[in-house]
Amino acid sequence: VDAEGTRVFALEAQAGTTEFAPGVASETWGFDGGYLGPTLVADRGERVRVDLTNSLDEATTVHWHGMHLPAAMDGGPHQMIAPGGSFAPEWIVDQPAATLWYHPHPHGETESHVAKGLAGMFLLHDDAERSLGLPEEYGVDDIPVIVQDAGFSAEGVREDTQRGYAGGLGDELLVNGTRGPYLDISTELVRLRLLNASPARTYAFAWSDGRPVELIGTDGGLLEASVALDQVRLSPGERAEVLLRVAPGERVVLQSRMTAEIAGLEPVVASMNGGVDAFDVLEVRAGDELAPAASVPARLATIEDFDPAEVVTTRTFELGDSFEINGEAMDMDRIDETVTVDTLERWVVENSNAVPHSFHVHDVQFRIATIDGAAPPPELAGWKDTIFAEPETSYELLMRFDDYADPSTPYMYHCHLLWHEDQGMMGQFAVV
Ligand code: C2O
Ligand code: CU
Ligand code: CU
Repeated sequence: VDAEGTRVFALEAQAGTTEFAPGVASETWGFDGGYLGPTLVADRGERVRVDLTNSLDEATTVHWHGMHLPAAMDGGPHQMIAPGGSFAPEWIVDQPAATLWYHPHPHGETESHVAKGLAGMFLLHDDAERSLGLPEEYGVDDIPVIVQDAGFSAEGVREDTQRGYAGGLGDELLVNGTRGPYLDISTELVRLRLLNASPARTYAFAWSDGRPVELIGTDGGLLEASVALDQVRLSPGERAEVLLRVAPGERVVLQSRMTAEIAGLEPVVASMNGGVDAFDVLEVRAGDELAPAASVPARLATIEDFDPAEVVTTRTFELGDSFEINGEAMDMDRIDETVTVDTLERWVVENSNAVPHSFHVHDVQFRIATIDGAAPPPELAGWKDTIFAEPETSYELLMRFDDYADPSTPYMYHCHLLWHEDQGMMGQFAVV
């Protein structure tokens, strides 16, 4: 924290090497080192600044996924940082406690920059969340779980993955950049912050012994109450906070067990999508003596409902079958939608394809009002910034654009399957 009270972070995008297998180096990119980047942590109400340096030999950006902030600070494709250049975005954190993340957003190159290793978490805390007594000791009982798929040669050198229609799919998983990971824990209760930072793969996270997944938070913050689920489905860019309770000495494995049904896909489409693959994600090993945990209150948050009667503008976004939205591919020089500041909007996202997409909106957290006309299930009823868009399904989203009018700098909305985004499945909106 500097003299003016600003919390200052520094991130340097660098090329380097990482040993995913002992003694075998792979070429990677990372922030401040080999692969991925540090977890940034800030409080609601704090002013933050990130001093970014680009030491790569190509231009990149750093986008703050899920963050409410001015468009000029958003790190989208208009805020490129040249090789050797720097950028110092600054804003005031003004949203609930949440698990956010950061990653590059150069138009046409996002998949490759993220897959090379440029990504990290950005955690927000607030007083309401602190008062719940949830696990919050970072690395002890509050654990980042960044899940990515990747390809490796027989020797253990990271390789480019094969691209299906969803994008690059790897046949191995990394958690926080580690192959075959395990987690030793010393507390009865742990909070796992799951982030799907994969370019294309969608996961269905479940516990190996069949215990329910206790979901407490989604992209933009805590749910009103926890939800017990058979599995948590996360498409690229989505996050979930889950609680895990363990007994001394217990071992349990976080797995991904995707099925066509969970993916909402026809079986043939699902297999093309890698959508039926099963993985062990992370083995959790509880110690023989565990620190006791406080009990977690039943009510976690109060989420104010948007009143549909206050909607000022309704827009429709049709996800097309050739990487288009409303029939058009991304054009950096075209602003597709102009939003009036301080209004509530309804965005209707229609996937009329036989294949899944996703939909992510910058700057705001939205609520899913309906899915094909019905209320969303409890796990999709909280704050979201990214949704998995099942084939032939329509999503009605409500979102409020409170502030930060800037007619000259747009925000993005796009499919978060990164190859689709790179192909132009993205549009721009300005808040005026
Ligand atoms: Cu996670 Cu527009 O990005
Ligand atoms: Cu984003
Ligand atoms: Cu897509």
